[in-house]
Amino acid sequence: MIGDTKVLFSGMQATGNLTLGNYLGALKNWVNLSDEYLCFYSVVDMHSITVRQDPAELRKRARNLLHLYIAAGLDPEKAVIYFQSHVSGHAELAWILNCFTYMGELNRMTQFKDKAAKHADNINAGLYTYPVLMAADILLYQADVVPVGADQMQHLEITRDIAQRFNKIYGDVFTIPEPFIGKAGARVMSLQNPEKKMSKSDENPNASIYLTDDPDTIVRKFKRAVTDSEGMIAYRDEQPGVRNLLDIYCACTNHTPEEAVNEFAGQGYGTLKGAVAESVVSVLRPIQDRVKELEKDKAYIDRIIKENAEKAEYYANKTLRKVKRKIGYPDRIR
Ligand code: TYM
Repeated sequence: MIGDTKVLFSGMQATGNLTLGNYLGALKNWVNLSDEYLCFYSVVDMHSITVRQDPAELRKRARNLLHLYIAAGLDPEKAVIYFQSHVSGHAELAWILNCFTYMGELNRMTQFKDKAAKHADNINAGLYTYPVLMAADILLYQADVVPVGADQMQHLEITRDIAQRFNKIYGDVFTIPEPFIGKAGARVMSLQNPEKKMSKSDENPNASIYLTDDPDTIVRKFKRAVTDSEGMIAYRDEQPGVRNLLDIYCACTNHTPEEAVNEFAGQGYGTLKGAVAESVVSVLRPIQDRVKELEKDKAYIDRIIKENAEKAEYYANKTLRKVKRKIGYPDRIR
């Protein structure tokens, strides 16, 4: 909360190729929620360096992600769309919060365990304290609500725990954030293994729909999507492949699962796959077109980057000043 205004914070990593999961689980809800809150949408480039990055590639991807935020419908004149690395308060607060986070808590983070297994040659301290930087992102802006996919729930819980611990010692410093997890699209699963989440780091390109995929590729990937041998379109745990297709369809068309099941009653999986592909194409195509336009408008994007970094910094510094006083850092003499 800032004054009387409720605050929303969320972010996305500029690593790898963004997937339909990122869009349906997060970005789409950001757009829907934007009017109600003072919104901060960060391109979290500081989180990206927890795994090795090619510098030129990271710079390019970070900028592309900013284009995508705007192309998806976020208004950069209203919402504060910015690069995390442009606001040094994230790193400063992360250090402070590191001193209020227990190793036992971080040891329980499933994403750390997964990533450590994937990057066994580079299990660095940043990968380990990644959730603390995420807590700093959220708490720095006094966020009331954080729209994310279901996979980020554990990180939201630790953020709340850290904030509550801090508040207990120093009084009401931080707003305790609530996660916002959408009904449809909160956990988009791999098209090749519906027990696993759709992920940008999947080695099988048929497992994920990338936000840059063209219509033919999207149709082909859905055609190859793994289903089952039940031969019946139902929304239930026993048919995770079909349920995932229905979830994607519902998230793209704003239908409920019951409506979708009725619509496809008695039809084959081929029909369902075709309709899902079509719904995805019609959501992604306008976004892709807009990204292409924005790429050409360097001066406009540069202005957005400059102004929003300043705005974000203003709010970040407000919290940071308060936190520094509370913990006993000496006053700066100016
Ligand atoms: P990241 O970059 O992995 O993912 C960005 C957002 O996309 C959601 N998501 C999914 N949703 C549904 N189905 C999927 N298959 C799927 N895959 C990804 C994620 O839940 C996320 O909302 N640590 C975060 C970024 C972050 C952040 C923050 C988020 C840093 N600081 C503060 C919120 C608040 C991450 O790596 O997300």
